[in-house]
Amino acid sequence: MNPRIGDWRGQRVWVIGASTGIGAETAKLLLERGARVALSARKLSTLQTVAPEFPKALLLPLDVTRHAEVLAARDTLLAQWQGFDLVLVVAGAYNEMRADSFDMAAVNQLIDLNLRGVFHCLDAVLPSLLAQHSGGIGIVSSAAGYSGLPKALIYGPTKAALINLCESLYVDLRPRGNAVYLINPGFVETPATAVNDFPMPGLITARRAAQEIVQGIEQGHFHIHFPKRFTNWLRLARLLPYRWYFALLHKVTGL
Ligand SMILES: NC(=O)c1ccc[n+]([C@@H]2O[C@H](COP(=O)([O-])OP(=O)(O)OC[C@H]3O[C@@H](n4cnc5c(N)ncnc54)[C@H](OP(=O)(O)O)[C@@H]3O)[C@@H](O)[C@H]2O)c1
Repeated sequence: MNPRIGDWRGQRVWVIGASTGIGAETAKLLLERGARVALSARKLSTLQTVAPEFPKALLLPLDVTRHAEVLAARDTLLAQWQGFDLVLVVAGAYNEMRADSFDMAAVNQLIDLNLRGVFHCLDAVLPSLLAQHSGGIGIVSSAAGYSGLPKALIYGPTKAALINLCESLYVDLRPRGNAVYLINPGFVETPATAVNDFPMPGLITARRAAQEIVQGIEQGHFHIHFPKRFTNWLRLARLLPYRWYFALLHKVTGL
């Protein structure tokens, strides 16, 4: 559904949300494959620890919730690279919320990061991608965006919106020569999931997640989801009539 990538050498890749977890491992893997990688997240000190063995990696601290900072980093990068071959928007956070712990401040915070932050990145890179008629954008959503899940009152909707966004983007960008990748991980071992006190089905390492992402992009897939033994169950479940879907959720989670 997208052009294949056979060789990463010299490819200009901007990974936003690259200081820990999935983004850090993906940035590292791409550097190992010979790509020119720019890493962004809020703290320069953390970015400096990701891939010290690649001193040529560009470190561009920014907060995705601050539009001006994203645009300024984009300008710095364009001045050096003159364009992008791939932009990966990985930055995001999880928040456990149920109806009886509803918290409007936390809702706003997650919308700012998981949703508005992604739109800030889009605003920054779309003009260049469109003008180039080449290069792509990948957005990390989540398998939790496929359908409503317990404890995901705000996380789920932000990720569902990103799935919808990628579908719309694909319609607009693919005919213009650009690639779009919708990336839906299941459970991945990262600082974000380290706090979970429940068994995480199909849990994989961040390195494995990075390999899945890079391989999916190399093969030109639009929908990159993993581990399939977990994500395919969720994809099947969402096709069930609601009566059965909710009964299945109750059986599996007790909620
Ligand atoms: N781990 C999972 O099981 C899982 C499953 C499905 C989807 N995901 C998604 O995968 C993405 C990465 O998650 P992860 O598990 O790898 O978590 P993580 O280790 O906490 O990584 C999150 C990254 O986003 C950056 N970030 C957070 N807030 C930011 C901000 N305001 N501006 C710029 N960067 C920011 C963080 O760096 P700083 O804090 O230094 O800024 C970090 O680099 C998220 O979108 C998450 O929803 C994760």
